[in-house]
Order: sequence, then C-alpha cells, then structure tokens
Amino acid sequence: MKQEALEVLKNRRAIRAFKPDQITEEELNTVLEAGTFAPTGGGTQGVQIVAVQTPETVAAVDALNAQVLNKPEAHPYYGAPTIILVFETEACFTHELDGAAVCTNMLNAAYAAGLGSCWIHRCKQMFELPEGKALLKKWGLPETLTGVASIALGYAACEHPAAKPRKADYILKV
Ligand SMILES: Cc1cc2nc3c(=O)[nH]c(=O)nc-3n(C[C@H](O)[C@H](O)[C@H](O)COP(=O)(O)O)c2cc1C
Repeated sequence: MKQEALEVLKNRRAIRAFKPDQITEEELNTVLEAGTFAPTGGGTQGVQIVAVQTPETVAAVDALNAQVLNKPEAHPYYGAPTIILVFETEACFTHELDGAAVCTNMLNAAYAAGLGSCWIHRCKQMFELPEGKALLKKWGLPETLTGVASIALGYAACEHPAAKPRKADYILKV
C-alpha cells in the first residue's frame, strides 16, 4: 500500500487534453477530500476550495484565466469539464503555501483516482479582477479571498506523458 502511494507521487503528470465527459460525483469528492487533508500552517485549514462544474461557470472561469493571460482566444483549462479553484482566506497565516499543499494533494489524488489533472496558474490575478470578484460574490464568498492555484480536472484524452529526467543536483545530503 505504501509502495502504491509512492508510485502515485512519482507517476502523476500534468495532463493537457481532456474528454468532454464529466467526472462522477464520487471521483470529484475523492479529489476534494484529499485536498482537505493537506497540511496547513498551524492547522488553521484557512483554505477555501471551490469546485466548478456547471458548463457556463467553467466557461466563465476559463475566459477569466485567458483574460489574465492576455490571450482571449486561449483555453487555459484545456477543455477540462471540472475546474477546482483554491483560495487562501484571512485565517491563513502561512498564505499561499497552504493553498499549494492543498492543490498538490488534489493533483495526486486525481491521479490515484484515474483522472487527469493539471495545475493552472494565474488564480491570484483572476480574482483580483472585477469579474473574478463578481463570481466570488455570486458564490456567496468574501471578495477578500486571494486566489492561490487552480486545477483542470477530467478524464485524460491523451497518452500519459513521460516524466522529464530529474536533474542530477536536485538533492544535497549533508
Ligand atoms: C505553480 C505552478 C503553476 C503551473 N501553471 C501551469 C499553467 O498555467 N498551465 C499549464 O499547462 N501547466 C502549469 N503547471 C504545470 C507544470 O507545467 C508541470 O507540473 C510541469 O511542467 C512538470 O510536469 P509534470 O507535472 O507532468 O511533472 C504549473 C505547475 C505549477 C507547480
């Protein structure tokens, strides 16, 4: 069992092509729950996770990220049917580090559950824009939330990529 966990950590890869089919509720919940068990500074759990699945909201979030990218025609979430957004709340004194830990747990859980996922950047800038703040308001969340990271999630529509070789001096033992 421990070995399987290590294999997941080593074999998860960023997936950048998705089938349009939506993932199951059980698959989504597996990923989200793994996020909630990530370490957080002082155990504050000061992270807010938002799972986006309604097609019009997925499209709005995709367009918002493309806007930050300054490429309105782009689809930064690669057509994934689910987008997960990770925010730091005011309770989070170790800030984006907690959100990154939550995000990483969810990426690994996604792979363990047979799903494809990719960490997508620019969440901070997205929710600084008026359009991002309007989405937070619509979802009943404080407009003071700070975006940390986001995830494109779905069934992979590509071969599983190979990992790049690890750099020789990655680790120093002293
Ligand atoms: C902070 C961070 C931001 C990233 N942003 C993006 C992104 O905006 N778009 C994307 O396609 N991949 C993004 N990635 C995924 C990386 O490109 C990917 O993890 C890296 O190339 C290594 O590949 P692997 O995850 O398959 O090992 C991001 C990863 C991290 C950690």
